[in-house]
Amino acid sequence: MEKTIRKAILPAGGLGTRFLPATKASPKEMLPIVDKPMIQYAVEEAYACGIEEFVIITGKHKRAIEDHFDTAFKLEESLKKSGKSGLLEEINRLNRFHFAYIRQREALGLGHALACAAPFVKDEPFAVLLSDDIIEPGDRLLGAMMDLYQELGAPILALERVPRSEIQRYGVVSGEEGPRGVVRITGLVEKPSPEDAPSDMAIIGRYILTPDIFPELERVKPGKGGEIQLTDALSGLLEKRPIFGYIFTGKRYDAGDKVGYLKATVALALRNEQVSEQFSAYLLDVAGRLKKQ
Ligand code: UTP
Repeated sequence: MEKTIRKAILPAGGLGTRFLPATKASPKEMLPIVDKPMIQYAVEEAYACGIEEFVIITGKHKRAIEDHFDTAFKLEESLKKSGKSGLLEEINRLNRFHFAYIRQREALGLGHALACAAPFVKDEPFAVLLSDDIIEPGDRLLGAMMDLYQELGAPILALERVPRSEIQRYGVVSGEEGPRGVVRITGLVEKPSPEDAPSDMAIIGRYILTPDIFPELERVKPGKGGEIQLTDALSGLLEKRPIFGYIFTGKRYDAGDKVGYLKATVALALRNEQVSEQFSAYLLDVAGRLKKQ
């Protein structure tokens, strides 16, 4: 029986340059999608899979994340006084999570961000969620990866088949897809050109990792973009142990990109009880007008 996954790391130390100027002084992870910041969707997704401890890797201008998950005594009092019990409940729901924060002093890459969490993880397997990848609520991904970890006892990377034209934005793996969308990974490369990509299987923002990734992270030199790349550390680890992928066929929005962010906003607004009716009527109206143009 493998150890249960109890901890999740949420790297949020990046500069979010694709969202400048919005991210000049505030974190990308706090950009709201309908009525919740992006990072809260990832926390709730992990919590729904039984994860109760969260480590958030922060950086400059990221204080708002800590404030968001902290108790807000004055706000709670004022909601109580004004009888806004629904909102109070929504705010109280945030108090169930346990957080630790680690500051990445310089944005040296995702691999570097993860290495900062080594003292917290110790000898346990853990999940990693990149909060700018939004998974359609109801589409099972992390839970399926956790089940696979119990079965295979090896790191599991979430994969998605992406069009060749988009492949250079991702880490890409080679290997054969087996039953249930499981891939025994035979190689990994960060942001290959479409001609050099070994497959169309891109790594997306969910991982189950084991603590033996940390010595590999220590060893890797800056790679693509001068950053310490997690993909390079995984390549090193692959020489020592099997690593598997799980092909996700549900819906994912890359909310770290402007168009992906807008798509996520539309999708989640259509699922939101308070706004879906009015918003879908508005969208149909816009679509009708665009058709006539
Ligand atoms: P991205 O590649 O999306 O980079 O990082 P970014 O800085 O957030 O955004 P752009 O590309 O400049 O617009 C993927 C994930 O890794 C984290 C980010 O916060 C995001 O969750 N990350 C990246 C770090 O925690 N530290 C880093 O040094 C780099």
